[in-house]
Amino acid sequence: MKSRYEAAKNVFVDSIDIDDYIELESSASAYKQLAHSIDKPLKMILLFGRPGTGKSILLNRIAQNLKYQKEIHYFDTPATNTKEFFHKLFKVLTKKDLPQNTEVNFSALVNYCKKLRGKREIIILLDEAQMYGPEMMEKIRLISDSRAVKFVVSLHKTENEDLIAKEHFQSRIWEVIELKNASLSDLTQYIHKKLLKKNLFEIANSIHEKDMKLIYTFTKGNYRECNKLLFTIFEICEYYDKNEPSKVNYEQITQKIIEIAGLKLGFIHV
Ligand SMILES: Nc1ncnc2c1ncn2[C@@H]1O[C@H](COP(=O)(O)OP(=O)(O)O)[C@@H](O)[C@H]1O
Ligand SMILES: [Mg+2]
Repeated sequence: MKSRYEAAKNVFVDSIDIDDYIELESSASAYKQLAHSIDKPLKMILLFGRPGTGKSILLNRIAQNLKYQKEIHYFDTPATNTKEFFHKLFKVLTKKDLPQNTEVNFSALVNYCKKLRGKREIIILLDEAQMYGPEMMEKIRLISDSRAVKFVVSLHKTENEDLIAKEHFQSRIWEVIELKNASLSDLTQYIHKKLLKKNLFEIANSIHEKDMKLIYTFTKGNYRECNKLLFTIFEICEYYDKNEPSKVNYEQITQKIIEIAGLKLGFIHV
């Protein structure tokens, strides 16, 4: 028999499916800021935050919402070679495919963009931009100087490296939007709403305030860490439900299960 926890577990598989987007206080405010910045005459906008703070889902959401009003394109994980990137950009700008074995002539592309100025405004959302090297960023900057192409550059903020301090990411034209980890109230809403969207009412109700606090302590409000933790919690519940149902408390996820999951994922140590 299928355990009801199996469905709950699958709710927390990490994905950036915009149908699963949840309006939270912090995401709504970041969305507004980004939408507002995109309307301003800026060449580049910087979106940054730690991994797992919701940058990719936000970019996907804005691309989806604005696709009928603007020429907006989401570029996911960058290709390791610049050739592939420029092929993609070429296609977006000219609406034509370039033969596989030809290289994009960069200065011709810049001139092409200059001619588009005032006629078209193309918005490119560059995810994982920490993977673009200085040369690429310089080329991207030159294209943005045409003012026909605007870039939203999404960067991972890491503990030990301040990427924005790097020369090639510095410029006066940037507007910066920072995504942070969720607050306890946003994280609570995130977990509840995700479960409710899949009609898992009882399970949503079985996670009480005290449990949310423990989940928050472990994950510090990081959405990706939260997904991992909840997936593991429900995986454990599923195991007991199938094998030792007498041990399952359906009214409440016990703190003990959260702790076992936390231990398994290394959030706590023995
Ligand atoms: N507002 C939100 N609504 C729904 N899911 C979200 C939201 N914010 C973050 N997530 C989820 O959290 C996880 C991490 O988000 P992601 O956009 O991949 O972060 P980043 O790109 O900053 O590393 C993903 O599974 C994503 O679906
Ligand atoms: Mg991402």
